[in-house]
Amino acid sequence: MSVHPNTQAVRIQTERTNEKEHSTPLFLTSSFCFNDAEEMRAAFAEENDNNIYSRFSNPTVQEFIDKMCALEGAEAGFATASGMSAIFGTFMAFLNSGDHLLSCSSVFGSTHTIITKYFKRWNIEYSYADIRKPETWEALIRSSTKMIYVETPTNPGLDIVDMEWLGQLSKKHNIILVVDNCFATPVLQKPVQYGADLVLHSATKWLDGQGRVLGGIVVGKEKLIRELYLFCRNTGPSLSPFNAWVLSKSLETLDVRIQRHCDNAEALVQALEGHPKLNWIRYPFHPSHPMYAIAQKQMTRGGGLVTFDLKGGVESGKKFMDALKMLSLTSNLGDSRSIASHPASTTHSKLTGPEQLEVGITPGLIRISVGLEYSGDIINDILQALEQC
Ligand SMILES: Cc1ncc(COP(=O)(O)O)c(C=O)c1O
Repeated sequence: MSVHPNTQAVRIQTERTNEKEHSTPLFLTSSFCFNDAEEMRAAFAEENDNNIYSRFSNPTVQEFIDKMCALEGAEAGFATASGMSAIFGTFMAFLNSGDHLLSCSSVFGSTHTIITKYFKRWNIEYSYADIRKPETWEALIRSSTKMIYVETPTNPGLDIVDMEWLGQLSKKHNIILVVDNCFATPVLQKPVQYGADLVLHSATKWLDGQGRVLGGIVVGKEKLIRELYLFCRNTGPSLSPFNAWVLSKSLETLDVRIQRHCDNAEALVQALEGHPKLNWIRYPFHPSHPMYAIAQKQMTRGGGLVTFDLKGGVESGKKFMDALKMLSLTSNLGDSRSIASHPASTTHSKLTGPEQLEVGITPGLIRISVGLEYSGDIINDILQALEQC
């Protein structure tokens, strides 16, 4: 019987053990046993599907991977210890010395650091493309371009890339297209449908959704995942079975949680509309978003992140953060608890003013990761903090 991906996210489960447990078991083990030497030889020769060592594979980790493949509509996957190890592993598995990466310039800070600071060690070249000028991207492609890398929506600018257009561009030039789907999750968009070859996540964010564990995953074409797997099983960024168990349980409620995050984000946007202390509000499903039409085409809803620009710049930003009574001041996002952050004075403070503006960060930009509290309480806390700016 074929069932909906949301059902698969609930029902995919490691085969029940002799204990007849209802909830999924946790295989917290580093290695696996063999009945005899021949079975062990065959496992190492990949003539059977036996697990060998949890750096290679583990049933609990595989359960999380299988659920994510079902949700993203992907053929195969490999799970990693964090979002950054998913990104770094993907770069290292596919990019050789002399290869060129075309990346959107608005990418997560640590991704930006890998590209700009470390790529030169391995003679990997890159070009940054402006997310707001898609017409300039094709001219940046070289004969050595091996991979196109984007986030959509971006962190923290909430810019959107047209995945249908990008899928066609990458196919035309025979380039691997990688999409960081962390902000939208497969509930809101499925990049594989638009031609992404690999889709990756920081599972630390919405997939866990409760701020407990670090994790990452890459899903996509079986041939590419096989290559990634061979690289990672030797280099060691594998996801811990314990974290995989937590993440697999989280996926049972992913759709329900994301729908409520979107409800609360929409209510917040409505409450902040036209507020005298704000220059603007940004939300992918708000008609004022410059890429609203693209968001409507490729996303089912706008997601749980809302940004706004405070009049009064950096000082107003810090005052707003200090005035919050309930929202958490922490650098994570995608939690059941609402979180506020002020990129200009924290995560992006090392960038110059013009560099901040280039990636969409204004001095008064506040990013809200809208949680699952009663929406009226989230709104009241933000409104009272705005009064004090
Ligand atoms: C879009 C995006 N990608 C990747 C990462 C890195 O993930 P992790 O912190 O799990 O390594 C983050 C973290 O915030 C992120 O926001």
